[in-house]
Amino acid sequence: MSVHDPYGLGDRVAVVTGAGSGIGRATAQVLAAAGAFVVCADINGAAARATAEGIGKAATATGLDVSDRAPVFALIEGTAAEHGRLDILCNVAGIIRTGRVVDVPEADLDAVWDVNFKGTFHGCQAAARIMCEQGGGSIVNTASSAVDTATPEIMSYSVSKAAVVQLTKNLATEVGPFGVRVNAVAPGLVRTAMTARHYLLPDGSIDEAARAAAEKPLRRISPLGLIGEPEDIAYAVRYLVSDAARFVTGQILRPNGGAAMPW
Ligand SMILES: NC(=O)c1ccc[n+]([C@@H]2O[C@H](COP(=O)([O-])OP(=O)(O)OC[C@H]3O[C@@H](n4cnc5c(N)ncnc54)[C@H](O)[C@@H]3O)[C@@H](O)[C@H]2O)c1
Repeated sequence: MSVHDPYGLGDRVAVVTGAGSGIGRATAQVLAAAGAFVVCADINGAAARATAEGIGKAATATGLDVSDRAPVFALIEGTAAEHGRLDILCNVAGIIRTGRVVDVPEADLDAVWDVNFKGTFHGCQAAARIMCEQGGGSIVNTASSAVDTATPEIMSYSVSKAAVVQLTKNLATEVGPFGVRVNAVAPGLVRTAMTARHYLLPDGSIDEAARAAAEKPLRRISPLGLIGEPEDIAYAVRYLVSDAARFVTGQILRPNGGAAMPW
């Protein structure tokens, strides 16, 4: 007798953006391990290929810039056409620029908005059309703890992620009647290339002592004393896209070590 595993993703077809590094790569690996076929997309095509090759037969890779609308639609529509359906979209690709509000160049504001918000929007729009027509699917967007606090010098990033939260909720209300769920994760600090860039040594390795010193006060914010690893977020995403979350939509799940506990 076979028992349905509500967390299993057997036969599901997934697209993961930002799959060449960090949280996106871990998400692609975790979804594939749960049984999904995963299309790994990243502006860094070689990195996306490395992720897909590491997964094996259950993955392919493509290089694309999520801020560019036409290739995002081509990827999502092409995936659905090739596999006969699209069950999962994880919008993970993202960038950050730092600077005080009074100093932020307009080009930085635009760059962050175009990748973090518009990139997520393009994916949501393309996938929602297909998922509504097929009568089911699950989208997970990537927000950030930055939406729960007012952190200095990352305004453009925080604003883009706040917009991702609102997009997630608005879209959930529109596509729910078609059996499509839309949620977001809002990770706390996670050890990835994005957060390691402050501690890079000239040879490309990470100054672990400098990173540990910088993480010390941040660990104190977490009741668990933890800094996140990419898998911590990927497991939350896996839950959200699975049947175990069939009653969950329009929600922001916060894998953040308890660093922020908003209502
Ligand atoms: N690391 C953290 O502490 C943290 C916390 C909260 C939220 N996030 C969010 O998680 C997501 C993943 O971040 P990460 O920490 O894994 O960073 P990362 O830099 O390790 O990975 C980001 C990936 O996105 C890709 N990417 C960037 N711009 C792209 C574009 N225009 N089109 C396609 N791909 C693009 C990069 O090439 C890279 O592979 C981001 O949206 C980020 O904002 C990260």
